Amino acid sequence: MEERELVEQLAEAVASIKEKQGMRTPQVGIILGSGLGPLADQVHDAQHIPFKDVPHMGHSTATSHVGRFVIGTLCNTQVICMQGRLHGYEGWTAQEVAFPVWLMHELGVQTLIVTNAAGAINKTYRPGDICLMADHINFTGRNPVAGLGNETLGLRFFSMKDAYDPSLRAVAKQCAREVDVCMHEGVYLGLLGPSFETPSEIEAFSRWGADTVAMSVVEEVIAARYVGMRVLGMSLITNMACGVFAANPDEREVFDVAAQAESGFIALMSKIVQRI
Ligand code: HPA
Repeated sequence: MEERELVEQLAEAVASIKEKQGMRTPQVGIILGSGLGPLADQVHDAQHIPFKDVPHMGHSTATSHVGRFVIGTLCNTQVICMQGRLHGYEGWTAQEVAFPVWLMHELGVQTLIVTNAAGAINKTYRPGDICLMADHINFTGRNPVAGLGNETLGLRFFSMKDAYDPSLRAVAKQCAREVDVCMHEGVYLGLLGPSFETPSEIEAFSRWGADTVAMSVVEEVIAARYVGMRVLGMSLITNMACGVFAANPDEREVFDVAAQAESGFIALMSKIVQRI
């Protein structure tokens, strides 16, 4: 798609959301990954807008992804949460995955918090821990900005250094200490999926310096940096990656661990949102 067409589509999507929820300007956007959606139930004065009601938006087909925007107040901060996200493995293009990120930016969001469930490659991590994203390796083979670049939304060539904002990471680490959540900081590797990785792939990713792995986030973060949003990224470790301690992860394990970690995750996120 050309950037001009994308800009028109975004304008229509923004107009439809403003019509539904009034003129509140969200400051923080939060994308809630597998099993992490319950945080959106803490939003006050919430307006719910299903993805399918927003023009030009894809809809969520992944299990446990409700597939709606929740707009309101979380700890005195105006937020827009995505309760569920769009994934490449569902068949969405990189630009379709990125569309809601650009939409949140057009609505006024300056800071984006991305979350997901991930497998641990690093052997010192354990299921239930949180891993702050220090950096990422995009191994999806795709980039949402490819084909854009007439410089309306952003510059064609843009830096991905410090893509995960160092000062937001410092805030997150402090909040984790205060709510007593075990938080690591590592390199996240994002894949297209939907197959889980082979043990040989995990071994290779480990040598590249990856600490965690999953099937989302990288395209959203590239899209956010393209338009200059500050980004904080966090994974809930739901399993050891395939082959690590002989692990053979499956979807059930991912959801069971996410459900157990729910209250700690909500406490952590609430604290972070208060401080940014
Ligand atoms: N691999 C890929 N995606 C995932 C994993 C994993 O081990 N755990 C949660 N999402």
